[in-house]
Amino acid sequence: MEDYVLRLEDITKEFPGVKALDRMQFQLRRGSIHALIGENGAGKSTLMKVLSGVYTPDAGKIILDGEEIKVQNPLDAEKKGISIVYQELSVFHTTTVSENIFTTNPPRNKMGMIDYKTMNLEVRKILDSYGFTDVDEKAKMRSLSVGRQQIVEILRAVQRKAKILILDEPTSALTEYETEVLMKIMRTLNQEGVSIIYISHRLEEIFEICDTVTIMRDGCYIKTLDVEKTCKEELVKYMVGRDVVYQYGAGTSEIKGELLRVENLCYKKELKNVSLVLHRGEVLGLAGLEGAGRTELLECIFGVKRPESGHIYIDGKEVHIKSPVAARAHGIAYLTKDRKNKGLYLRMSISNNILANNVDRFTKKGFMQFAAARKDAEEYREKFEIKTPDVDKKVSQLSGGNQQKVLLSMWISRVPQILLIDEPTRGIDVGTKESIHHLIRSFAKEGMGVIIVSSDMPELIGASDRIVAMYEGRVSGELKLEDINEERIMAQTSGLEIE
Ligand SMILES: Nc1ncnc2c1ncn2[C@@H]1O[C@H](COP(=O)(O)OP(=O)(O)OP(=O)(O)O)[C@@H](O)[C@H]1O
Ligand SMILES: [Mg+2]
Repeated sequence: MEDYVLRLEDITKEFPGVKALDRMQFQLRRGSIHALIGENGAGKSTLMKVLSGVYTPDAGKIILDGEEIKVQNPLDAEKKGISIVYQELSVFHTTTVSENIFTTNPPRNKMGMIDYKTMNLEVRKILDSYGFTDVDEKAKMRSLSVGRQQIVEILRAVQRKAKILILDEPTSALTEYETEVLMKIMRTLNQEGVSIIYISHRLEEIFEICDTVTIMRDGCYIKTLDVEKTCKEELVKYMVGRDVVYQYGAGTSEIKGELLRVENLCYKKELKNVSLVLHRGEVLGLAGLEGAGRTELLECIFGVKRPESGHIYIDGKEVHIKSPVAARAHGIAYLTKDRKNKGLYLRMSISNNILANNVDRFTKKGFMQFAAARKDAEEYREKFEIKTPDVDKKVSQLSGGNQQKVLLSMWISRVPQILLIDEPTRGIDVGTKESIHHLIRSFAKEGMGVIIVSSDMPELIGASDRIVAMYEGRVSGELKLEDINEERIMAQTSGLEIE
C-alpha cells in the first residue's frame, strides 16, 4: 500500500473575484493526524469542501489510495471513506442524537422499517465508549450545546467507519471539557487506523495532538513540517508572513470612575447575588468554567434575560433594562459567542449587516443612509482585514473567521460606552487577534468600559486589567492586575479559593 492515503495535486478553485485555491498541494500520510493551518480566508475550508465533494475544483487531482478519484457530492465522499465535520454546523435540530448519527444508514428490521431499538442501543454503546455518558441518545439535537452537537457529528463519522476524517475547527465552540473528550476520540480513532485532517487556530492543540502540519496562505501551499521539529513562532511566521508580537495591553489605560455597577443580581439557579463594578477605561475579564454564569450575567446586563432580583446602575443611576433595544439605548453593546444563531444575518451583505445593527444611527428623516453604512463597512473591512472583494458580498460567502470580524464591526461601529464580549477572537487567526485586542484597548483608552469572557486563558490574562472569577453562579474571587496569574484564576474558578 502506498504511504499516502491521500494526495491533493494542484487544486485550483475560483469564486467570483476570489482565487480561493491556487494550485494547492496536500499529502496525508496513512495513520497521521495532520494539521492544516492558515489565516482567515486562506482557503482551508474550501480545500476540504473540494475533498468532500461540496465544490468541484476548477483544476487539480484528488488521489485516494494511489488512484485518482472524482468526488461527486458529500454522499459520494462518504462512500469513499471521507467524512467531514464542517466549521458551520449543519445538524437537523429536530432529530434525535441517534437519528443524527445514523442519518444515511439506519439499521432496519425485516419489514424495512427503521429499527429504533437497535439504533439507540448502538448509539448508546458509541457514546459510552468515548466517555460521553451524560448525553442521552434520545435527546433532540437542539437541546444540546453547540459543542455537544459537534461531538455528535464526529461520532457520526465514527459510526460510518471513515478512512479519512476531516475536522474543520471543531474546538472553536467547545468548552475545555468537550475539547478533552474530542482529543480522546481523535486518539482512539487514530489508533484504529483513521487518518485525520485537523483545522484549528489554536496552535497549542496542534502541538498536543498532531504529528504533521501544513501551512497555507492566500490559497497557496507554503510548507509542510514535522510538528516535533517546529515551534509556535515558526508556524505563525509562515502563516502571517511576518513576526507577530503579542501586545494585549493589560494595564495600559487610565482607569477612571465607576461606569457600571451590578448589585446582588439573581437569575434562576444561574446567578446568585452577583455584584461587580466596571470602571471607565477598564477591561474587566470574567473567568469561569462552563456553567459558571458568565454568559447569563452578560445576558442580564444586556436585557436578553430579566434578572429576578438585584440592581443595575449606570453612572450611578439605577436602570431597568427590559430588552436589548433598551440596553442599546443605554450605550451597551453585546457580542454573543454564538455568531450563527444570534448575531449575523447570513444572507445579507456585510454592509447591510452593519446597517441592520445601527438602523437608529443610519436613519435620517425616515430614510436609511445606505451610503453611510457602506462607508463604515469599508472602514472596518480595512481595520480588521476582512477578506472580501467588496462589502456588498453576502456574509455567508465569507470564511468563518471573517464572519466573526463582521460581527465585531457591527457592534463596535456603534461606539458603545459599555462593551460586553463573549469569546471575542474565537476562530480568528493570530494576526487579526492582535489587531482586535489592539482595538479593544484603544476603546478603553477613550473611556469605554469592556467586559470580556474568554476560554482562552492567555487572552483573558493578557487583555484584562482586573479579573472577576465566577463559580456556580457566584462571584468567587477577584484579582487585581498585579495578582493575575493562571494558578490563582484556576483556583478561584473551581471554587477552591473563596474569598
Ligand atoms: N461560496 C463562496 N462564494 C464566494 N467566495 C467564497 C465562498 N466560499 C469561500 N469563499 C472565499 O474563499 C476564500 C477562502 O475561504 P475559506 O472559507 O476556505 O477560508 P478559511 O481558510 O477556511 O478561513 P477561516 O479560518 O476564516 O475559516 C475567502 O476569501 C472566502 O471569502
Ligand atoms: Mg474555514
